[in-house]
Amino acid sequence: MSGAVWALIRNDAFLPRELEALYPPSVATLARLLRLFAGRGARVGRPGERLARSLEGMGPVAIKLGQLLSTRGDVFGPQFAEDLSRLKDRLPPFPTAAARAEVERALARPIESLYAEFGEPIAAASLAQAHEAKLRDGRKVAVKVLRPGIERRIADDAESLGLAARLIDRWIPPARRLEPIGFAQTVIRATMLELDLRLEAAGADELREITDRDGYMTVPRIVWEGVGKRVLTMEWARGWPLSDPGALTQPGLDRQAMADNLIRAFLAQALDHGVFHADLHEGNLFAAAPGQLTAVDFGIIGRIGPAERRYLAEILWGFLNKDYEGVARTHFDAGYVPAHHSVAAFAQALRAVGEPVFGRPASEVPMSRVLVQLFEITALYEMRLRPELVLLQKTMMTVEGVARRILPDHDIWAAADPVVRRWIARELSPAARIKRFAEEAATALRNLARLVEHPPTAAQVEVRDRSAEGSRLTWFALGALAAGAAFVAAWYWG
Ligand SMILES: Nc1ncnc2c1ncn2[C@@H]1O[C@H](COP(=O)(O)OP(=O)(O)O)[C@@H](O)[C@H]1O
Ligand SMILES: [Mg+2]
Repeated sequence: MSGAVWALIRNDAFLPRELEALYPPSVATLARLLRLFAGRGARVGRPGERLARSLEGMGPVAIKLGQLLSTRGDVFGPQFAEDLSRLKDRLPPFPTAAARAEVERALARPIESLYAEFGEPIAAASLAQAHEAKLRDGRKVAVKVLRPGIERRIADDAESLGLAARLIDRWIPPARRLEPIGFAQTVIRATMLELDLRLEAAGADELREITDRDGYMTVPRIVWEGVGKRVLTMEWARGWPLSDPGALTQPGLDRQAMADNLIRAFLAQALDHGVFHADLHEGNLFAAAPGQLTAVDFGIIGRIGPAERRYLAEILWGFLNKDYEGVARTHFDAGYVPAHHSVAAFAQALRAVGEPVFGRPASEVPMSRVLVQLFEITALYEMRLRPELVLLQKTMMTVEGVARRILPDHDIWAAADPVVRRWIARELSPAARIKRFAEEAATALRNLARLVEHPPTAAQVEVRDRSAEGSRLTWFALGALAAGAAFVAAWYWG
């Protein structure tokens, strides 16, 4: 840990000079003292960039810490978050011989029994590296192998981070708002999850099923024979990595189709399926003419529940149609906004976010920024948003950046339109509403049935209002009636 503190001091990222005005006198003195030890790097870049640089050298847990901190633009400000999110996770590779040994141990079979060729590393990060290989049946594949001994390293880092969090919590009361101990646990857990490549393989497989159905993006097939806790084998992605300058100058490339596909793939995953690739930067995307996109690297998968999907779709729909009153009413009807607030005032706040979007060319207004503004409003109206929506917003920011680099004046709103329209037509049609009501009624009925099967004990009943007995039966009858009617209606229209 002393090494970590030293790295922060060298880059003036421990008590950065930019925050000097906020320090109490004693801390300011300490900061000035520590700055005597700062290296040349301390003078280069903004605080977020300097912190990123310090963390890059500290190993996988520190890198994950930086990645998670970069999602908290709400706390540290957007510039800091943006600078931190450029943190690089690249290290020198370990030898191919060691990788082969890891593969043989993990799969418990000789390497030649599965691979005809096993090549040099093509990319190396803090947790794993990827190799190019060929299967015996001739298919070209990518093989991802965990770094030897990485678990030990992570256990050590996790211990240091836990200790640091407890110290911060104990000695720096203002930092408690960030819940350092809970945050450290989140960081450690997120790192641990990436240590089992079987999970990553399953994530890839799930997204491949989804993208096959949607058609906006492809995901290479997993070779399950070549999957273990420490090894992942998947078919080679078609095309060029988008991070490669040659990717966009391929003959026959349709930039408009490619950028549209990217936006639609992401939105369809999130809205239609509630699961999305949450690491869609250029290094993880392959482009093939005319408009085919292939995604790799499934270490981070985002998931959002039905309520959030509905919230998102309705909000986007309202914005595409400038129907602020409609969006506001849905929020109140669904109980997202507590009833004591004013619908009209909420609609006004939505208009404040939405109108500037339509005053300017849509290509100049990032959807991710609109989402951030919406989150700010929803906080004012006591709507609690789940952290998954924050991950979604951050991924949307990445995706928009990539789309804009594929096609500089790409209109993300126009690209999103068909996916949002389709969702609304399907989910908010009268038939869908009835179906949903029927499902809710069925759940209520199941709960009631459970109550009847396992009646509360005498002691439990004792403390309840006596009159509840009679009304429960009435509710049961009404519920049954409503559910029956809904089923008939759903069957008839659906
Ligand atoms: N299926 C694949 N086909 C071709 N190249 C791949 C494939 N999977 C990974 N790679 C290459 O290896 C690199 C590292 O793999 P990735 O899964 O992104 O690991 P990391 O989590 O370290 O970023 C990718 O950026 C890509 O260039
Ligand atoms: Mg990657």
